Amino acid sequence: MIQKRVLSGVQPTGSIHIGNWLGAIRNWVDLQDTHDTFVCVVDLHAITVPHDPKKLANETLSTAAIYLACGMDPKKCSIFIQSEITAHSELCWILNCITPLNWMERMIQFKEKAIKQGDNVSIGLLDYPVLMAADILLYDSDLVPVGEDQKQHLELARDIAAQRINAKFAKKDHPILKVPQPLILKNGAKIMSLTDGTKKMSKSDQNENSRISLLDSPDLITKKIKKAKTDSEIGLEFNNPIRPEANNLLNIYSIISGKDPEDVAIECKNIGWGKFKPLFTEAMITALSPIQNKYNDLMNDPYELTNVLKEGKIKAEEVSQETLKKVKNALGFYKGS
Ligand code: AMP
Ligand code: TRP
Repeated sequence: MIQKRVLSGVQPTGSIHIGNWLGAIRNWVDLQDTHDTFVCVVDLHAITVPHDPKKLANETLSTAAIYLACGMDPKKCSIFIQSEITAHSELCWILNCITPLNWMERMIQFKEKAIKQGDNVSIGLLDYPVLMAADILLYDSDLVPVGEDQKQHLELARDIAAQRINAKFAKKDHPILKVPQPLILKNGAKIMSLTDGTKKMSKSDQNENSRISLLDSPDLITKKIKKAKTDSEIGLEFNNPIRPEANNLLNIYSIISGKDPEDVAIECKNIGWGKFKPLFTEAMITALSPIQNKYNDLMNDPYELTNVLKEGKIKAEEVSQETLKKVKNALGFYKGS
């Protein structure tokens, strides 16, 4: 039976945090058993805001190592670097020319990020979702596992494929591009900041204590959790709108400890924050320790990692070139002799 195709990616910017892990990477690990899975490190996206050229290559490699450390298995999936596959930039250009500007100006993440850049907003930042659409559409992806914040970008990719490419350029009943579905798991889709339970945990938050990075040491994890925002109630509970911090930490605790939310709700119903935090800290350190060990092994001897990326590149090149050719043919480009 032909497996459905999955594609996803994370930017190699800053340190990958537990929101990226629980909202995105963790889902890929399950999907690779049953789906034809491609995951990439989206380094072209990382330069849409000012970046440090001295760090880019290292952070790209480090992000790929995190994929493997979190359980991505090169025997079951292809792992590659976005900028190594030139079809991404090429399809992005073609899609740019058929995507209305006003679709882009509506993108919530663009508006949020643009505010932070002041006068220095690049065209790349506005174009970010079109490049993401190219990433997805090149691989005929059926499913795109992402966190809640990427839903609007997925809708854009669907609209570009269906309304701008298939509707305008495809012969009847022979779509050129597959229209992908987002896969947003409820559990973990939105991990909130440790310092404000109403804000998403984010790489770009100025406050380091707002997030736990996958590579944080046990001491640092302990310190951050000690500082995490609490309230004055005794007993933690899910889904109380005036207690977003309790909901967030219980949610994270339930996922990383592998316990059902119902059991966690009972376990924590009568305990205060002072008792909960050490439990939570312990569970976090235990969950991250195997990831960190594997990560360190991979980075100390990157031979395995670079081989995985070479193999991923070959597979990605094959699939993406075929799609790019289909699009270029449909748009009437010169085919050469
Ligand atoms: P980014 O940090 O923007 O590169 O995001 C990489 C992936 O992690 C995307 O699929 C996001 O949707 C997901 N993600 C980022 N932050 C969170 C969060 N706080 N909770 C859940 N998922 C997240
Ligand atoms: N924009 C995504 C994010 O910030 C990263 C990304 C780029 C992506 N291309 C993708 C995710 C393709 C899924 C599929 O998280």
